[in-house]
Amino acid sequence: MEIRCGDLSWNSLFYWLLFFIHQDTYALSFSLSLCRFSRYSVSPFSALSRCGIKHPKPLPFFGNMFMFDIYPSLDQSNCYYLGRMPVVVVADPDILRQVTIKEFSTFPNRQYVINHTKPVSDGLQLLRDEHWKRVRGILTPSFSGAKLKEMVPLINTTINTLMNILNAHAKSGEAFDIHRCFNCFTMDVIATVAYGIQLDSQSNPDDRFVHFAKKYFIAPAFNPLMLLVVAFPFLKVPLLSLFPNKSRAEMDSFFINCIQRIIKERDEQPPEQRRRDFLQLMLDARNSNECVSMDQFDMGNHANEVGHGNQQTDQSVSEQDCHQPQASSAKSSQKRTITDDEIVGQALVFLLAGYETTSSTLAFTCYLLALHPECQRKVQDEVDQFYCRHESPDYFSVQELKYLDMVISEALRLYSPGFRFARTIDKECVVNGQLLPKGAYLEIAASYLHRDPEYWPEPEKFIPERFTPEAKANRHPCVYLPFGAGPRNCVGMRLAQLEMKMALVQLFRRFNVVTCSETKVGCLPPSQLQYCVTV
Ligand code: HEM
Repeated sequence: MEIRCGDLSWNSLFYWLLFFIHQDTYALSFSLSLCRFSRYSVSPFSALSRCGIKHPKPLPFFGNMFMFDIYPSLDQSNCYYLGRMPVVVVADPDILRQVTIKEFSTFPNRQYVINHTKPVSDGLQLLRDEHWKRVRGILTPSFSGAKLKEMVPLINTTINTLMNILNAHAKSGEAFDIHRCFNCFTMDVIATVAYGIQLDSQSNPDDRFVHFAKKYFIAPAFNPLMLLVVAFPFLKVPLLSLFPNKSRAEMDSFFINCIQRIIKERDEQPPEQRRRDFLQLMLDARNSNECVSMDQFDMGNHANEVGHGNQQTDQSVSEQDCHQPQASSAKSSQKRTITDDEIVGQALVFLLAGYETTSSTLAFTCYLLALHPECQRKVQDEVDQFYCRHESPDYFSVQELKYLDMVISEALRLYSPGFRFARTIDKECVVNGQLLPKGAYLEIAASYLHRDPEYWPEPEKFIPERFTPEAKANRHPCVYLPFGAGPRNCVGMRLAQLEMKMALVQLFRRFNVVTCSETKVGCLPPSQLQYCVTV
């Protein structure tokens, strides 16, 4: 039965009422969502100010990521938001010593990159906590003096190729880009020491290894989806599975197959026929039953605590290492084994971390010596004297080249490939009286420190004498960090130094490097010079 009320039946009244209520609910839930959305857009942006850390005003969702001029004008209080991530920039050597060395156990990790695929995700650079400790403990002994000595013949073969190429250029009398030659050289060195592959990338630029390796260094084109990921990081995984990076997958599978094939070949070879390279050292560790503890860690560049005492002997390194506070405080032992996946990851990380870094340092060293012929003459005199004593350079003899060492150190000060590196702040803590927010990155501003006039008078000038033993002893050890600091420093530092010195000693024995009309001179920021050096 229907009750009538004018034209309106109770039924239609009920529906009208329901409609208004719903509209209200819609409106309410819409305004609630809007509130939530706008709260979400700014929610992380109180983390820095809560800790009393100054920063520029962030934009909703994107923080300060469009303020590209932040870095050059950096001062110690210049922290920022990279998207939603708070970044605490540290350029205070005392805080750096605290974070990277004394309180290493609180800051053992580098930035957390979600959803990085294998094999990159298995590489030392991205590993975290105990996983990193185990793999680093296995790799570190591979970079000892004794092991690097075994790499010398492999490096020498690639230097011969480099010398032939430079010779051809010198004979032609034409200007050329020496950075390219060094790129090929460092690629060949890594291929031989980490993959057991004899390459000649200069003569075979179409080789598949060279082709895929170079692809890792091509900056990805701007992708608007990245902005979406910056604003909504939780969308990263679904977006990546919806729009997979095919080119990346192709590169990854090339390297995985390449290393797996070589591992298989090595396993089938009699032990005495196996090549002595990093790959074999890792394969030997795969079957080892030994335990590794933090005591065995190479704290690396800790002459004067972290300084880059390039002249260190193995003995001096291990003596210092034993006295590092964090080594004794973290004595956990782990089984010294490494899986095939991890071996592939490390081989790739050697390429990613050791190729461009080493080649650009070689290029900048030559660039600076071409601009400073008086320093080049000193290097050549030292090299000539070196050859009166030695037939060819090796791991121990290159350590006699004190002036060359000073020149490389100064080139690394001015043009550090690792111009900034990071640690994560996994829990809220106080360092040197400064409260640091949980979940932030701690960005170590190495290139800022390297040009800080407080520690480096006339910082833009190339003055190798800044690295005499006396000058180094009088400086705070944490104002010079080309290879990082503490137990998480560059594991390949000694290989890089060996490779660079062996190449430069042969180069300056035979050639002079001179500038040409294309050589850029002046106070250009490193970012502009990085890829356009011509000598
Ligand atoms: C001139 C050459 C090089 C420079 C300037 C350099 C610089 C650096 C820097 C600044 C870091 C970060 C350190 C830190 O966070 O404290 C690093 C890490 C690393 N480097 Fe190098 N590097 C060079 C060559 C190499 C080479 C040749 C290799 C390998 C063959 C290598 C492998 C690595 C690895 C695996 C890491 C990560 C270490 C870890 O997380 O435990 N680097 N490097």
